[in-house]
Amino acid sequence: MALILVTGASGQLGNEIRVLSKNYSGYEFLFTDLDELDITDESAVNDFVGQSAPDWIINCAAYNFVDKAETEEEKAFLVNSIAVRNLAGALRNTDGRLIHVSTDYVFDGAANTPYNENSGVNPLSVYARSKRAGEENALTHPYSMVIRTSWLYSSFGNNFVKTILKHAAEKEFLKVVFDQVGTPTYAADLASAIMTIAARVIRNQKAFNPGIYHYSNEGVCSWYDFAIEIVSLSGLDCRVIPIRSDEFPSKVKRPSYSVLDKSKIKENYDLEIPYWKDSLRKCINLLR
Ligand SMILES: NC(=O)c1ccc[n+]([C@@H]2O[C@H](COP(=O)([O-])OP(=O)(O)OC[C@H]3O[C@@H](n4cnc5c(N)ncnc54)[C@H](OP(=O)(O)O)[C@@H]3O)[C@@H](O)[C@H]2O)c1
Repeated sequence: MALILVTGASGQLGNEIRVLSKNYSGYEFLFTDLDELDITDESAVNDFVGQSAPDWIINCAAYNFVDKAETEEEKAFLVNSIAVRNLAGALRNTDGRLIHVSTDYVFDGAANTPYNENSGVNPLSVYARSKRAGEENALTHPYSMVIRTSWLYSSFGNNFVKTILKHAAEKEFLKVVFDQVGTPTYAADLASAIMTIAARVIRNQKAFNPGIYHYSNEGVCSWYDFAIEIVSLSGLDCRVIPIRSDEFPSKVKRPSYSVLDKSKIKENYDLEIPYWKDSLRKCINLLR
């Protein structure tokens, strides 16, 4: 029976995998978060992985505070990079697979067509640099997949969807940037893609091809469009006003364009990816 270790399992993605795991009765899951396994602790990671000998590690742990990372560089690098080196190191000399999740923010946004896995990276912020360093550390293990995703939301945890719902319920209008374009990703869809990949490899239906992959929902929008759709689907009465990024107080540079080309993951693993508005509707219905 395949053993799957999920780290950072109390976050958005980890919780979605936890929900899905009920459909995978043939597999054994170990869900850990900070209390059970702090992945920044190298000897704890070596002991845990050595004793449990997982066939797969799905790393959902991360430091995701994009603004705060500018003043907490050490912490961001510890969780997003050094801890990933610990996981890769603990799997060294085993054929255990590592699935590590990264971000569209490794790109600078200067493109105007979707980024593929061969596009050059140029992270603009401390957070983005720490995630890029984590990708490199993950890929030191020969059986690693790095899945870059974007604008993640879920019914679990804190995210843009919940922030907009909260503010739209309290305010007459909201100001949201319209000059950053990308694609929202429902964490339940990403969890499903990850589990589909793992299951197809375990059943020998697909070969495990290490390397970088891109995954988001289908379609393209700005944060403004995303907010409009959230308000509209939830039936709230709140006006959404488009503003430019330079009107929004943030010291962090974010890519103005970060649409991901998902051809590689779709072709390698026969995945169908839902359109962002369809998935958003599912999440909002769950939150009602
Ligand atoms: N959120 C986004 O918009 C977004 C966009 C692109 C990519 N991603 C990537 O997608 C992945 C999943 O993100 P997510 O939104 O599901 O993350 P999340 O909700 O922030 O969950 C991360 C989890 O990791 C835990 N954690 C933090 N440090 C840890 C450590 N040292 N050891 C073990 N667990 C630790 C956190 O615990 P605490 O809460 O107690 O810190 C939290 O439960 C991450 O790699 C993230 O960088 C996210």
